[in-house]
Amino acid sequence: MAEFDMVIRNAVVGTAADIFHADIGISDGVITALGRRLGPARRDLDAGGRYVLPGGIDTHCHFDQPMRDTVTLADDFLSGTVSAAHGGTTTVVPFACQLQGQSVRAAVEDYHRRAADKPVIDYAFHLIVSDPTEHVLRDELPALIREGYSSFKIYMTYETLKLDDRQIISVLALARREGALVMVHAENSDCIAWLTAELEKAGKTRPFFHAVSRPLAVEREGTHRAITMSEIVDVPILLVHVSGADAVEQIRWARGRGLHILAETCPQYLVLTSDHLDQPGFEGAKYVCSPPPRDAASQQAVWNGLTSGVFQVVSSDHAAFRFDDPRGKKRHGIDAPFAKLPNGLPGVETRLPLLFSEGVSKGRIDLPTFVALAATNAAKLYGLYPRKGTIAVGSDADLAIWNKDREVVITNEILHHNCDYTPYEGMRVRGWPEVVISRGEVVVEEGKLLAQPGRGQFLRCDRPRPVPA
Ligand code: URP
Ligand code: ZN
Ligand code: ZN
Repeated sequence: MAEFDMVIRNAVVGTAADIFHADIGISDGVITALGRRLGPARRDLDAGGRYVLPGGIDTHCHFDQPMRDTVTLADDFLSGTVSAAHGGTTTVVPFACQLQGQSVRAAVEDYHRRAADKPVIDYAFHLIVSDPTEHVLRDELPALIREGYSSFKIYMTYETLKLDDRQIISVLALARREGALVMVHAENSDCIAWLTAELEKAGKTRPFFHAVSRPLAVEREGTHRAITMSEIVDVPILLVHVSGADAVEQIRWARGRGLHILAETCPQYLVLTSDHLDQPGFEGAKYVCSPPPRDAASQQAVWNGLTSGVFQVVSSDHAAFRFDDPRGKKRHGIDAPFAKLPNGLPGVETRLPLLFSEGVSKGRIDLPTFVALAATNAAKLYGLYPRKGTIAVGSDADLAIWNKDREVVITNEILHHNCDYTPYEGMRVRGWPEVVISRGEVVVEEGKLLAQPGRGQFLRCDRPRPVPA
């Protein structure tokens, strides 16, 4: 008689705290035992001494988000989650975005319709608050937080999304009252607008100048201002997609003052530089995202931040626009000034292989740190822990079996997103997720998708739990 639905045998289990040898017993989608020589199961899966890690949690990705200007994100909840799963991720948290004049609840309902019947892995929603009216702050957000939408992103830039300082403070105060977590896109909008106009006047409009229009100082100022408002309201914030040495310095400064500032970075700031934007013709458009990839010194500063605990989370910020497509990067043609280019890069599938390879395989971070950055901290911060983000009895059996020695050359051909390029074309990585399991079901094995669209479940998020910062 089978004791378990599945046992993964001979695993080297990695969590944010430990590495240990064990078998993992799974029943009804949940981990029910960790031990040596577990009893019989309906299915045995031999890990053969490979790492078995918590499935990744990508808490910054944009799927099927309504856009202005008739550009369209390449990935919906099907292609986005299929791509995520192939990269070792088993939970995604994209954004239900309130358009100005829209109610947040309407945005959430619309986003549920967009997701319906599509995801192959589990998912939750953050909210994007772009119009914090009194009704939104007093009625809608408190109710939505209680219903499982406990985090929201606010923007300091982008004309149709940005909040002014008074609005930001109001949102932070609401987050403090209700116990929600606010993610901040910190760049100074007016400085970007002035720099863009100056560059345009000088005829400097090719994609490379996107990076020039958003220098380190623009991110530094936004970061400092966000920290100041967090201090005034006395509420933690999470600074998203931190890219530059100056912003890292601000976060260290804030922590030194005892402020509760959390931070996320992304692979593009760990492996790309602004040289990638500086290519002939329109090619640089592939790397246009905000904040932009920086110089080698900033890249090193971000790595230093990662190894020294400045960052709690590494997310993809997957915001894929097809390159050779009038709904994507070429919306305004190949001579379009940089300010007209949709901002964003694909990366939901390459996030963990890049972090593993550049981090663990190259000896910059250890395996528990990888797990913390890839899954555990995000699960805690966004109220999904311990159901997600760890390997423990009672947790969902969301797992990825990693072959630490497998070398793969990343090409767009091998990826599963709906984008026609990857910024990481030709990069060789060491370490690859060979089997991916979601709630006890093998969803990807040896590069093959085994999951049905719509099997992914919507997750309601609790209030955030503290993570050491
Ligand atoms: O360029 C980026 N990062 N696009 C996605 C939207 C955002 O601000 O994260
Ligand atoms: Zn952003
Ligand atoms: Zn984003």
